[in-house]
Amino acid sequence: MTDKFVAAIDQGTTSSRCIVFNQDGGIVAVDQREHRQIFPKPGWVEHDATEIWSKVQAVVAGALAKAGLRADQLSALGITNQRETTVLWDRATGKPVHNAIVWQDTRTSALCGELGGTDGQDRFREQTGLPLASYFSGPKAAWLLDNVPGLRARAEHGEIAFGTIDSWLIWNLTGGTDGGRHVTDVTNAGRTMLMNLATLQWDASVLSAMDVPEAVLPEIRSSAEVYGTAVGQLAGVPVASALGDQQAAVFGQACYDVGTAKNTYGTGSFLLLNTGNQPVPSKNGLLTTMGYKIGSEAPVYCLEGSIAITGALVQWFRDQLGIIRSAEEIETLARSVDDNGGAYIVPAFSGLFAPYWRSDARGVVTGLTRYVTKGHLARAVLEATSWQTREVVDAMFQDSGVPITTLKVDGGMTGNNLLMQHQADVLDVPVIRPKVSETTCLGAAYAAGLATGVWNDLDELKAHWQKDVEWTPSMEASVRDREYGNWRKAVEKSFGWHE
Ligand code: G3P
Repeated sequence: MTDKFVAAIDQGTTSSRCIVFNQDGGIVAVDQREHRQIFPKPGWVEHDATEIWSKVQAVVAGALAKAGLRADQLSALGITNQRETTVLWDRATGKPVHNAIVWQDTRTSALCGELGGTDGQDRFREQTGLPLASYFSGPKAAWLLDNVPGLRARAEHGEIAFGTIDSWLIWNLTGGTDGGRHVTDVTNAGRTMLMNLATLQWDASVLSAMDVPEAVLPEIRSSAEVYGTAVGQLAGVPVASALGDQQAAVFGQACYDVGTAKNTYGTGSFLLLNTGNQPVPSKNGLLTTMGYKIGSEAPVYCLEGSIAITGALVQWFRDQLGIIRSAEEIETLARSVDDNGGAYIVPAFSGLFAPYWRSDARGVVTGLTRYVTKGHLARAVLEATSWQTREVVDAMFQDSGVPITTLKVDGGMTGNNLLMQHQADVLDVPVIRPKVSETTCLGAAYAAGLATGVWNDLDELKAHWQKDVEWTPSMEASVRDREYGNWRKAVEKSFGWHE
């Protein structure tokens, strides 16, 4: 045991958690709380940013109490967060001017179509690495500026602050209306569609095209440096890292070498491949995105395959359909049958993200006959995750020419053995989970600890990584090919429902 501790806050789509780590990268204590999901209309998803801030404060208190530590025993605090979710707040009162618009929200689909104009979806891809899609924050900010009465004028006068959740938390942690720091890091800024990937600064041409005033934007900083000192319950603790949650998982999984990749299974799933110090453009529906930037070191870029709905499909099966009572029950139900009975579910609830980027897609269930039972549907729910992952792995190979030979995985769904076996089967490569599977928080803690001298370098962090479970592929090629063909047919059926 060592006596240095680093805390990380992971503010996710459905819950906030705080984990305290020791110097060996081991977990000392965890606390977690869910927050409300607000669905005002079909396709719209909102969060109450004030509720998120109070849940974050509660989990910090909870984790410290469970660890038996005082704030002054923490060497640093790291932040990781659901990306793209957009908050605008009043700088004078500290109050959000509207609910946060969540990354899954599709209200800006039409606006994105208009912004593309004759250039189409890739109008800003060269500068930002991203296709125009409702997923990203810039159009969400533009929507708020156009739809909240009087907001645009106030924003132009410098009264309003924009932030992804990292900015919102850092501003509150470092004092809020009393001197809070208005900053973001490159990984989060890169998901606004407003940052230039080469300069790592806000891109004036994109800002003007989207009509987002620079006065609302935070300063863009690296992912590992001291942004400020916390006040309140964490008084005196350096706030020393910020990374979007998927990039934090890259960092926590020690994917520091070019060609290493990880897939995190949360609300959605996000597969990121480290491509080194240069951004690699995608021709196959992936995103070119930041990996991380440690202080003044050169930035690291990734290719990303973003899948909007994976774990959220299990939640939907539980909460909206009521077929299971807990997420864990899905494995038992799926194991009650031998296969999917011919059924496929394409969960295009927010359109389809990578590699399709189709906002006109909506969810479909195909292959139904009277033979199909809830057990088969449970299989189809799980298989939707592994087939969507197969599609982004194929796109990664087409873009990079480098085959993925093993896949490092993490996130809640990796507790499902049936799913992980199916994942190995349909990729035909081993799937490996590390001992510390809380890689998102771990990555944020690592970055904060690097910035404050708790750890010295990446080699030291890499040495912490240890294998826990490995799933080995065992599916016959003919079965895999047949099933993949069926999945692709089901995907085709999800197109063309909404514009
Ligand atoms: O881009 C969205 C992603 O950051 C959300 O992650 O883990 O909250 O589903 P998660």
